Amino acid sequence: MKSTVFRILGLALFLGCAVYGAPTHNSVRDTTDNPPLRGSEDLLGYSSSNKLSEHSTEEVKYTLVTGQKEDADIGTYLDFETADNPQPIRGDMGGTDAGPRNYNYDRINSDKLAPPGSDKGQTINAQWPMGLSRNKLGMDSAGWARQENTVVMPDATKMAGVDMRLEAGAYRELHWHVASEWSLVLNGSCRIQAINENGETFVDDLTEGDVWFFPPGVPHSIQALDPGVEFLLVFDDGSFSEDNTFLASQVFAHNPRSVLSKNLDLPLSAFDNIPSDELYIFPGTPAPKDIEEQNVTTAAGVVPLNESYSYHFSEQPAHEVAGGSVKIVDPATFPIAANFAAAVVTVKPGGMREIHWHPSSDEWTFFIRGKGRATLFEAPSTATTFDYRPGDVGYFPQSHSHYVENTGDEDLVFVEVLQAEAFTDIALGQWIGSTPKQIVADTLKLPESALAELKSEKQYIVAGSKETGAEER
Ligand SMILES: *[C@@H]1O[C@H](CO)[C@@H](O)[C@H](O)[C@H]1NC(C)=O
Ligand SMILES: *[C@@H]1O[C@H](CO)[C@@H](O)[C@H](O)[C@H]1NC(C)=O
Ligand SMILES: *[C@@H]1O[C@H](CO)[C@@H](O)[C@H](O)[C@H]1NC(C)=O
Repeated sequence: MKSTVFRILGLALFLGCAVYGAPTHNSVRDTTDNPPLRGSEDLLGYSSSNKLSEHSTEEVKYTLVTGQKEDADIGTYLDFETADNPQPIRGDMGGTDAGPRNYNYDRINSDKLAPPGSDKGQTINAQWPMGLSRNKLGMDSAGWARQENTVVMPDATKMAGVDMRLEAGAYRELHWHVASEWSLVLNGSCRIQAINENGETFVDDLTEGDVWFFPPGVPHSIQALDPGVEFLLVFDDGSFSEDNTFLASQVFAHNPRSVLSKNLDLPLSAFDNIPSDELYIFPGTPAPKDIEEQNVTTAAGVVPLNESYSYHFSEQPAHEVAGGSVKIVDPATFPIAANFAAAVVTVKPGGMREIHWHPSSDEWTFFIRGKGRATLFEAPSTATTFDYRPGDVGYFPQSHSHYVENTGDEDLVFVEVLQAEAFTDIALGQWIGSTPKQIVADTLKLPESALAELKSEKQYIVAGSKETGAEER
């Protein structure tokens, strides 16, 4: 008992000393053998008794994966997923890492741990995994939403995105926002409804693969139908936040009830049960099967077809190319979304979305399925290769070249979203293939045999094999 009291006293004195001044040789000692928080001045330089570590990194045990011994400039994708101890080695570049470190990051980001020799310097960060975003959980198990914006990707200034899921019957609360909202349904189906400034109304049912668009200020809601729904939202403002939308619950909670009563010509008591806080994502009464029951019209009628807020993109067949398929939706077919142009791209295993850039817009990309990698090249000589998984956001600034290579064994599916009146790109292959051969030969020193093989048509997606990069001929 006595010793405990002394110990507490000693600790208090010791802590007081640590807090109020640097300990000296005469510091009050703990009554135990516990050393003080700081060492002594004797540890400053010129040590006479250097105790060198006997550990050696040469003992690190590892096995190199396929391609890891190749010249670093070849830069084949290194599959570290099943590597016990992936190492930062490419050809004769790099060295071992004994750890400890988080091997989970290294196994799925081999192009970060052992970058191709062609990577150089520091580009912007062109990747955000939604798995690192804090999920906003809806009430009563109704769903969730997680977002990417400039808080986490400071250079992705033109667009931000949200991945949201609503369980069967759940709502994304009635709301509007300052930005435009473009959406791709990723799974399941939902009913959307809105009203525009002319008093024209809109209601429609959408399913996996369909898109919708709501202009700034147009109030709308989303309700999951029977199977529930997951959708991707893209906003034309990189700093957009789902936390800052104008919600029906909040606009009612933050106006005087006397004003609400006067405005809607209702007794004050009508507002006794309005929500005191946001609902955001919450369970609802299932939507009636017959959409006509929810087709509310005003004297202005319905939103005209050429200004429809939905486009049944799921029913558009994909355009097939050698390495996969592409589908484009832009204002040419979906006019209300006047600043959104998008392509849903499917790349077969071994295939690659060819090296290209978008002359009129930054690109915001969302990876839906499969595995891929991309190299962002920034003038004059900076490049970073990123490895992407489902749920990852990619971002490629205007006119910055990039490709997306399928690095897995299944189809890679992603959506490229632009802020543009039309979906356009310039392809490296077509550029070089349609430039006079003499100019190409003088500049790039390609052999005569290679010049003859160059293609003057845009490929969108090229075929290939995982191992060699190019398909065997
Ligand atoms: C939709 O979700 C279901 C249930 O999780 C899943 O089986 C199905 O593969 C998903 N469809 C797509 C296109 O992701
Ligand atoms: C809603 O009713 C209008 C006629 O009032 C009709 O033109 C429109 O197609 C209906 N919408 C739906 C989704 O059925
Ligand atoms: C739809 O058509 C009307 C009438 O022709 C036109 O005024 C309007 O600009 C069109 N809307 C869009 C988005 O093209």
